[in-house]
Amino acid sequence: MAKLTIEGYGTFDVPEGKRLVKAIEDVGVDILHRCGGFARCTTCRVEFIEGEPQQRTVAERDKLREKGESGIRLSCQCLVEDGMHVRVLNTLQSTGLDSPGNEPEDEITPQPEWIPLER
Ligand code: FES
Repeated sequence: MAKLTIEGYGTFDVPEGKRLVKAIEDVGVDILHRCGGFARCTTCRVEFIEGEPQQRTVAERDKLREKGESGIRLSCQCLVEDGMHVRVLNTLQSTGLDSPGNEPEDEITPQPEWIPLER
């Protein structure tokens, strides 16, 4: 198991290697995932306070570049590592939307191509 801290919610034991968006949701945080975890919508965005993964998927890099975003990560494209501390930026409650989006699959979609996190 891994320790996952979610700002404002607490610290939880979650399975190491689990898809981060699903780990966050499974502990009761109403995080959005409007595209169903396909690196298209960016509503699953989180900010890392500690433990940012040092690899990323090509899909995540390309989407964040396209949107001109930096300083955030897509939780649908990250796997849980011990000691992560994140801030969830979009929740159902904070946005007033009617649904978080389709349930993401257990494995990262699209099929991940891993690259080092560039600075
Ligand atoms: S980008 Fe849509 S759920 Fe992650």
